[in-house]
Amino acid sequence: MYEIIVNGKLTKTDKVKNLLKYLRDDLDLKAAKNGCEEGACGTCTVLVDGKAIKACVLKTDKLKGKKITTLEGLSQRKRDVFAYAFTEVGAVQCGFCIPGMVMSATALFLKTLEPTKDEIKKSLTGNICRCTGYVKIEEAIELAAEILRTEREIPKRDCKGMVGEHVHRIDGPAKAIGEGVYAEDIRIEGMYYGGAVRSLYPRARVLSIDVSEAEAMEGVLKVLTAEDVPGINNIGHLSFISDWDALIPVGKITRYRGDAIALVAAKDKETLEAAKKAVKIEYEELTPVLSIEGAKDENAPKIHENGNLLFHQKLSKGNVEKAISDSKYVVTEIYNTPATEHAYLEPESATALPTNDGIQLYTSSQSIFDEQREVSRLLGVKPSKVRVTSTLVGGGFGGKEDMTVQHHAGLLAYVLQVPVQVTLSRQESIYVSTKRHSMEIEMTTACDENGILTAMKTTILSDTGAYSSLGGPVLQRACTHASGPYNYHNIEIDGKAYYTNNPPGGAFRGFGVTQSTFASESNINKLAKLAGISAWEIRSRNAIRPGQILPNGQIADAGTGLVETLEAVKDEFYKNKYVGLACAFKNSGIGVGLPDIGRCRLTVIDGKVHLRTSAACIGQGVGTVNLQILCQTTGLDPKNIIIETPDTHVTPDSGTTTASRQTVFTGEAVRLAALELKNTLKGKTLKEIEGYDHTEEYSGITDKIGSFKENPKSHIAYGYATQLVVLNESGKIEKVVAAHDVGKAINPKSVEGQIEGGVVMGLGYALTEIMPFENGMPQVKFGTLGLLRSTLVPEIKSIIIEKNTEELAYGAKGVGEITVIPTAPAVQGAYYNFDGEFRTELPLKKTAYKK
Ligand code: FES
Ligand code: FES
Repeated sequence: MYEIIVNGKLTKTDKVKNLLKYLRDDLDLKAAKNGCEEGACGTCTVLVDGKAIKACVLKTDKLKGKKITTLEGLSQRKRDVFAYAFTEVGAVQCGFCIPGMVMSATALFLKTLEPTKDEIKKSLTGNICRCTGYVKIEEAIELAAEILRTEREIPKRDCKGMVGEHVHRIDGPAKAIGEGVYAEDIRIEGMYYGGAVRSLYPRARVLSIDVSEAEAMEGVLKVLTAEDVPGINNIGHLSFISDWDALIPVGKITRYRGDAIALVAAKDKETLEAAKKAVKIEYEELTPVLSIEGAKDENAPKIHENGNLLFHQKLSKGNVEKAISDSKYVVTEIYNTPATEHAYLEPESATALPTNDGIQLYTSSQSIFDEQREVSRLLGVKPSKVRVTSTLVGGGFGGKEDMTVQHHAGLLAYVLQVPVQVTLSRQESIYVSTKRHSMEIEMTTACDENGILTAMKTTILSDTGAYSSLGGPVLQRACTHASGPYNYHNIEIDGKAYYTNNPPGGAFRGFGVTQSTFASESNINKLAKLAGISAWEIRSRNAIRPGQILPNGQIADAGTGLVETLEAVKDEFYKNKYVGLACAFKNSGIGVGLPDIGRCRLTVIDGKVHLRTSAACIGQGVGTVNLQILCQTTGLDPKNIIIETPDTHVTPDSGTTTASRQTVFTGEAVRLAALELKNTLKGKTLKEIEGYDHTEEYSGITDKIGSFKENPKSHIAYGYATQLVVLNESGKIEKVVAAHDVGKAINPKSVEGQIEGGVVMGLGYALTEIMPFENGMPQVKFGTLGLLRSTLVPEIKSIIIEKNTEELAYGAKGVGEITVIPTAPAVQGAYYNFDGEFRTELPLKKTAYKK
C-alpha cells in the first residue's frame, strides 16, 4: 500500500500508476489536465514538497512522505486571486494550459512575491500554451504576485458589457482555477473506456481481424469492427465527399497509419490498452504513395476510387504572360512549406451514452451540428436521435473540425448500450489528427521600374493526405489569396490537391493562406530589393485602398484598412536595421456562394435572458462577444444574461467555428435577435415577457468563384494586417509589431490575445516547428514538435486598427486566422536583410533558432 499526502490529506493506493491518473481517476481531482502524459506540456503541473513538478512523470510508489498540492488544495484567497488576475488581463483563452500555469506560478511565489519578468518567463519553461503567446499569462502572474504581496483586496470589475469595453470573459475564472469541464473530465456511472486498433501500415489490405483473444480478456466488453456499423461506414466533414472510413473492413485497403480497424470497449484504461494489443489483424502490405510527385504518377495506385487528384482550382484574370514580359523586374521562386501540428493542448475526447433510441454525446469540437450529422449517418438513425452537447474545448485551430473520437464513442455506446469515453493519447492524436497541408509553390511576381506590381503567376500543389477533409477549400483559399491584398489585375493561378498515404491535411488557422502568403510576400521582399525601394515602400505603393478592386474582382469596401496597418508600423520599420515586413488579408466567413448562416435564439426564463447559439468557443471567447453584442443592443445588464452551452437540442445551428466567421455571422444574428428583444421589451420588464422565445439568423450572401458578375462578392468581409519583425545583432528576434484591421474590436483584450497567440504560432511555423514523416508516420512527439516556449518569445506589440463602416456585428471582422498569416514572410524578410540569404523553405534554416 502506498501512502501519499494530497492537499494535506493522507491517501492510500495499492496501485503503481502515474500520479496524474491517480489524481484524476482515483481522487477525482481534475484541475491537473492530461495534455501529453510525457512530461512535455505542463498541463499536469502540481507541487511536490513546494516544487512545480509534472504529475504525469511521477509514479505512486515513489511518493512516500511527499506532500502533493493540486490547484484544488490552494487556499481560497489564492484561488480567487489567480481567477481574478488571469481574467482581468485576458490571459485565458481555451484555458486548458492555465491550471498548470497557475501551479508553476504558485511554486515561483513560494520563492518570491516580487518576481522579475525573466523569473516569470523561466518559471513557465515547462508549460506550453498554444493560444496566448504567453504575453498575458506573464502579465497575470505579475498581477497575482502584486495582489498577494500587498495583501490588497481583489478589485471588482463592474461593467456594462458594452461593445468595445474590457469585459471579463465569462469562462475566465472557472478555467483559471481548474473548475472548467473539458471532455475528458466527464465521468458517468458504469462508463467504459473505448479505443481504436489502428493500421500498422499506411497502405495495406486488411485480410482478417481476429478479436477472440481480446474479447476473452477480463474487463473487455466487446470489440467492434466495420461489420457492426449499423449505418453508413463513411464520415467526412464535407458531406458530399464523405470519403473517410470509420473502420476499415476486411478486404479493404488502409489509407494511412491512423486508420481505425477495430474498436475495443473495456472497463479501465489499462485493460483497454492490453486488449488493443490482443486484436490480431492480418495484412497484405502494399506500396504506399508518400509524396505529391508519387501521387501524380500515372502508374500510381489510386488511393480513392476517382484517382489521386482531389481538387483542381484555376483562376485567371488579365494577360499575365504579356504583363510579365513587359515588366522591368520579375522574380520566380519555388517554396516549400511543411505539414505542422495544431498542438491544441487538449487531446481529443468524447463521451457517449445510450438514450432510448439514440445517443447523447459530450464532445469538444468546432461544430456540434457537424458531429450530429456525421454520427447519425454512421449509426443509421435520424439526426434528432443524436444529441450533441459541447464541453469546454481545449483549443482547436481548425484541427477539431473533423471527427476523431466522437463517431467511435457514439458507435460503441449505441451498439453496446453502455456509456463509453474515447480519448486519444497525445501520440495517437499526432498520428491520427489532421495537419496543416504541406505545399509546393512555384510563383512568379513582376513589377515595373517603380515597384508597382503588374502580374503574378503561380502553381500550388498541396498534399492532402489520406482523406479529403477540407483539402479542397483549403487549396481554394490558398489560391484566392495568393495575389495578396494588392491593386493589380493580371493573375494566373493553378492549384491542385493530391491524395497521398500521409496523415490527412485539414483546416488549420490561416486555411491555406498561410502557405501561399509565405510565397507571395517573400517574392515581394525580393522585388523590393530589385526595384531599389524598401519592403515598406513597395507594399505602401501597391496596398489595396477603398474603392479599388482586389485581384479576385471584389471591390474593396470603405472599411478596408490595409494602408492604416502599414502606417502603424512605419516608424518601427525605418528606425530598425534588420527588419522584415509582410501584409496579409483573410476572409471572414465561408463565402464563394456557399450557404453561411449564423443563428441566435433568445429565451427568457425566470427573468433572465438565455443567449443560445451553437457557436463553439475554441478559446477565442465567442460567448463573451455575443454577450457584449446583446448588452450593447438592448442595454440589458450582463447579470441578467445567461450564455448557454452549445447543445443540438437547445441551441440553433450557428455553423462551424471556422473561417474567422463566428463574431461576424453569429454576432450579427445576436444583434438581430437583440433588436427584436429590445422591441418586445419596450415599457416592459423581463419578468413580464417570461417565456419569450425567438430565433434570428443572419445569412451572408456571396458569389460563386467564376461568377460572371463584373465585381463578384467573394466574401462578406476581409481583415487586413501588417506585421513587422525586428532582429538584433545576433540574429534573434527582438520584437514583433502586429497591426491588424479588425473593423471593430468587440472585446479588445480578446483581440490582443488573438494577435499575440497568432504571432507566436506564426513564429513557430517560421522558425522551429517540424512534422517529419517516415513511411507515412509522423516522427515526432509533443516535446519535439518545436513549439515555442515562453523564454523564446520576443516582445510583441499589437496594434488594433478599427476601420469599418458596416453595421454588421457592429463592424467586426474576424481576427482569429489572419494573425498567423503574415508572420513567416515577415521573419523571412528580416533574415534576408540580416544575412542576404533568400530562404524559400519553412521552417527557415540557418537562423538563431535552427541550423
Ligand atoms: S500531461 Fe504532464 S507534462 Fe503534459
Ligand atoms: S489558453 Fe493556453 S493552451 Fe489554450
